[in-house]
Amino acid sequence: MEHREKITSIVAALLPWYAENARDLPWRRTKDPYLIAVSEIMLQQTQVKTVIPFFERWQRELPTIQAAANASPDRLHKLWEGLGYYSRVRNLQKAAQIIVARHGGMFPEAFDEVLALPGIGRYTAGAICSIAFNQPVPILDGNVMRVLTRVFGIAGNPREKAVNERLWGLAGELVRQAVHAGRARSRAPQTPGRAPASCSRLNQSLMELGALVCTPRQPQCAVCPVKNSCMARRENRVAELPNLGPRVPVTRRHFVAFVIERDGRYLVRQRPAGVVNAHLWEFPNVETSGAPVRPEEILASEFGLAAGVIAPLVTIKHSITRYRMTVSAFKVVSAAGGVRRPLVWKSPGQLEGLALTSAHRKILKGAGKKPEA
Ligand code: ADE
Repeated sequence: MEHREKITSIVAALLPWYAENARDLPWRRTKDPYLIAVSEIMLQQTQVKTVIPFFERWQRELPTIQAAANASPDRLHKLWEGLGYYSRVRNLQKAAQIIVARHGGMFPEAFDEVLALPGIGRYTAGAICSIAFNQPVPILDGNVMRVLTRVFGIAGNPREKAVNERLWGLAGELVRQAVHAGRARSRAPQTPGRAPASCSRLNQSLMELGALVCTPRQPQCAVCPVKNSCMARRENRVAELPNLGPRVPVTRRHFVAFVIERDGRYLVRQRPAGVVNAHLWEFPNVETSGAPVRPEEILASEFGLAAGVIAPLVTIKHSITRYRMTVSAFKVVSAAGGVRRPLVWKSPGQLEGLALTSAHRKILKGAGKKPEA
């Protein structure tokens, strides 16, 4: 099939497929560019099913750009607690503040102005402008890369510059074709003044196809709306594509953490700016080699505290990017010794209200259970 024809037939197949198969996701019930931006930023490194409750709570608590611009850092981090990659939420607030200060509180529509906002790259600007404003601008994320490398039979690594640009080019051709497809469909009577949002739907159909059908493992080619256009399927190369190159090897890391209780309160500290999980709270902890440790010695040497009673509490496994972390937590009761900043005592009620790192939130849950045998 000639290239133009292939683009036309893919778009013609995707739009009706999306109309039938799109999931009912909370951010698909709004056209508010601010809320769409929030959803896209949450979805940048996090799965749809994880994001849904976070998005719904954010929409309830900070329903407007002004509310996001004015929220305290503690509140923002608490709303993001568990999503990880917390610089996303700090940038989101900076973007909201810029929109209030420079755009009179109205989300900008021009692609370049959206792209200029902190934390918003080419993908996110494309998603916002196409989904909220129906502009014919492309998106390319991991899902869309997988769909396009397969449909167009592209063997190069999609993260390499030339291949990546080719994929952006194809994504652009598809979304621009959607403008024509939208016009053709709109010969049927439409709501006055409302263009059919075919660019929005086309881009979301690519994401949706990647999420539901053209999955990394065991793709559902039999039910794929573009199976007849798919080069990988024709050439039996679906399992080989995309070619993401060698996997980054995993690194194991080990930590010892202390849940130190005195008079019903617990010692925690806030992580400083500029480090991973900045601004989040955690129990005192140190990284170790992974060899067996004497926790009472670490407690004394690192934190200047002598344990009354010390006992194993829980062992937490936590993965982030290439790191596989094991945190061995110990319960310490009535540790003698003065407490140095940044360590501070907090009651269980106060701990609930703080944004803890995910690993330490798991430790706190563990602290509510019986100690390990
Ligand atoms: N992944 C990234 N953006 C998405 C969206 N708007 N809907 C579903 N999955 C997504």
